[in-house]
Amino acid sequence: MTDALTVNAVQKHFKGVHALRGLSLQVERGITYGLLGPNGAGKTTLIRTILGLTVPDSGEVLALGVRMPDKAVLQRIGYMPQSTALYDDLTVHQNVAFFAALSGVTDPARVDQAITLVSLQNRAQSRVRELSGGMRQRCSLACALVHEPELILLDEPTVGIDPQLRVQFWDHFRRLNQAGVTLIVSSHVMDEAERCDKLGFVREGTLLAEGSASELRQRAGTPTLEEAFLHFAENGASAERIA
Ligand SMILES: Nc1ncnc2c1ncn2[C@@H]1O[C@H](COP(=O)(O)OP(=O)(O)OP(=O)(O)O)[C@@H](O)[C@H]1O
Ligand SMILES: [Mg+2]
Repeated sequence: MTDALTVNAVQKHFKGVHALRGLSLQVERGITYGLLGPNGAGKTTLIRTILGLTVPDSGEVLALGVRMPDKAVLQRIGYMPQSTALYDDLTVHQNVAFFAALSGVTDPARVDQAITLVSLQNRAQSRVRELSGGMRQRCSLACALVHEPELILLDEPTVGIDPQLRVQFWDHFRRLNQAGVTLIVSSHVMDEAERCDKLGFVREGTLLAEGSASELRQRAGTPTLEEAFLHFAENGASAERIA
C-alpha cells in the first residue's frame, strides 16, 4: 500500500513571503503525525497545499497515493480548518449532515455517531451561532470525521477544547490509527505533541527535524520538546531526519 502522504519539495510564495521552502515529508499509514511550529511557520499553508486548496509554485503532493489536486480523493480525506467553516444559521445536526452529504454519506446514523463522538448530542438542534467557541470546534471536528476518511488533516483541532474532551479526542484519534487511519495534526501544545507517533518541527517553511518526541529530545540532548525545538532552530535550518 502507498504511504498516506508524500510531499516533495513544495515551494509556496505569497507576496514577498516564502511560506514553504522546498518542504518534503513522508507519512506512513496508521499513525498520527504532528506538525509543530510557531505562528507563521507554514503549517496551515502546508495542510492547504496537501488538500489542493493552495496551489504550490513547485513540487508535488501525493495524498493516499494520488497526485493532488484531485476532487475524487477528497472524499477519502477529512479536514478541519484552523478557523471553523460552519454555517452559523444551521443547526449542529444540519451542518454535520451537510458535510456528510457532500461526501456521499447516506446513512443518517453516521451523522448521529459523529455528533456523539464530540459530545454534542444535547446540542444537536442548536444553531451554530448559539454555540460556545469550543463547541464550534467540536462541531467542526464532527464535520471532518463524519465520512470516515482514511486521511485526516486537523489544523489545531484542540484549541479552545477543555482538558477532559481533549483527552477523549486523543483516545479517539488513537482508535482511528488502530483502524489504519492516518492523522496529521498541527499544534502548538507540546504535551499533545507527546501523543503523536512522529513529529515534524516546522519553521520558516522548512522541516527542521523529524522523529518521535523521545528521539527528538534525545538527539537535541534536552529534557523538553520546547528546548529540543530551540536546539534545532538554532543549529541550522537544514532538514535533519530520522529514518
Ligand atoms: N493567503 C495568504 N496571503 C498572503 N500571505 C499568506 C497567506 N497565507 C499565509 N500567508 C503567509 O505565509 C506564512 C505562513 O502562514 P501559515 O498560515 O501557513 O502559518 P502557520 O504555521 O499555520 O501559523 P499559525 O500557527 O499562526 O497558524 C505567514 O507569513 C503568512 O502571513
Ligand atoms: Mg495555521
